This record gives sequence, structure tokens and C-alpha cells, in this order.
Amino acid sequence: MKFVAFSGSLRTKSLNTAVVRTAAELCLPPVSMTIYEGLGQLPFFNQEVESAGPPPEVMEFRALLESADAVLISSPEYAHGTSGVLKNGLEWVVGGGELTDKPVAVVTASPSMTGGDRAQAWLKETLLIMGGKVLPESLPIPLASIKITNGRVSDEETRAALQEVLAAMARAAKEGGTGD
Ligand SMILES: Cc1cc2nc3c(=O)[nH]c(=O)nc-3n(C[C@H](O)[C@H](O)[C@H](O)COP(=O)(O)O)c2cc1C
Repeated sequence: MKFVAFSGSLRTKSLNTAVVRTAAELCLPPVSMTIYEGLGQLPFFNQEVESAGPPPEVMEFRALLESADAVLISSPEYAHGTSGVLKNGLEWVVGGGELTDKPVAVVTASPSMTGGDRAQAWLKETLLIMGGKVLPESLPIPLASIKITNGRVSDEETRAALQEVLAAMARAAKEGGTGD
């Protein structure tokens, strides 16, 4: 079973990238997780460019998502929304439909008490309209800067919650996708 994950933050010490790396390490055979790191290299979405034929970076991103049995996205909350770079990446996928009927789990890690819950709601709305099967097990991580240390999720409760998210992704992938 193949999972694909990506972080909506380009920051070197990103809490959300740490979530994705931890999730990949928590995946055990027969499940594997590929981390996509090319979000920052995608051009700004332009409908004319898409119509003329999307650039190779976009085709690579689309193909990776297409090949996934389930997808994990971990996003920062910026001004109560998700990051621009993540929204841009998703815009390139609307036309391709690679997330249609695909189980997608959403994590938002934030140093704040809210755990990025507004970005999470915002992102789920976007994913749902794209046809993604957004999993109810999606996870906000409040006070993430004390639960994530040295680039990994270190808080045991949060690691267990992340494991639950991965288990839900596996179940949904097996069932061909269930969500809310
Ligand atoms: C421009 C900007 C806007 C932000 N807005 C919010 C916000 O609305 N809610 C929130 O919880 N945190 C907000 N933050 C704090 C981010 O959650 C924090 O920087 C987080 O570590 C970013 O994710 P990352 O560690 O994965 O890069 C904001 C940070 C920046 C730089």
C-alpha cells in the first residue's frame, strides 16, 4: 500500500514537515510513504499554461498523487487559511482530478492553542470540492512547538494520534475510500 505525504510549509525547521517525516517513519511494511518535496518548485497556477500542457514538475506531482492509495497533507495556518504554496499545488490538481475519490488525511500543526483548526477547516473544504475523501480522523496539533522536537513528533500522545490517522488511511484505502 502506497501513501504520499507533503507539507504545506517551505520552512527548513517546519513543524508540519516534521509531522510528515514522523508519519513516514511510523509506516511499516506493507505500507510505505513517499514524501513529496517539490511544492515550492511548482509555478504559480495559470489556467492558460494548464490548457497548453502543464509543465513537467506539475505532471510529476500529479502522477505521484495518482499512484497513491491515500494522501496525507500537513499544513501550517497562515492568517486563518492554509499556505499559499499548498493552495497553489492543489490548484494544479483540480483539472487533473488525481485527488478525486482519494482518501486524504489533513494534519495542521501550530504553536497556538487552536492547532490550526481554521486552516484545517479551510483545507478540508477545498479538498472536498476537489472530490477527495477527507478522513474524519484528520488531526489538529495544538502547542506543536513543544510536541515536536529535533524535526520529529516527540510527544507520545501525538505520535499515537498520528498512528491512528495512518491506520484510518489504510482502512479507507482498503475500502476504496470512505470519508466525511
Ligand atoms: C504570516 C504568518 C501568519 C500566521 N498566522 C497564523 C494563524 O492564523 N494561526 C496560527 O495558529 N498560527 C499562525 N502563524 C504561526 C504559524 O502557525 C507558525 O509559524 C508555524 O510554525 C508555521 O508552520 P511550520 O512550522 O510548519 O512552518 C502564522 C505565521 C506566519 C508567519
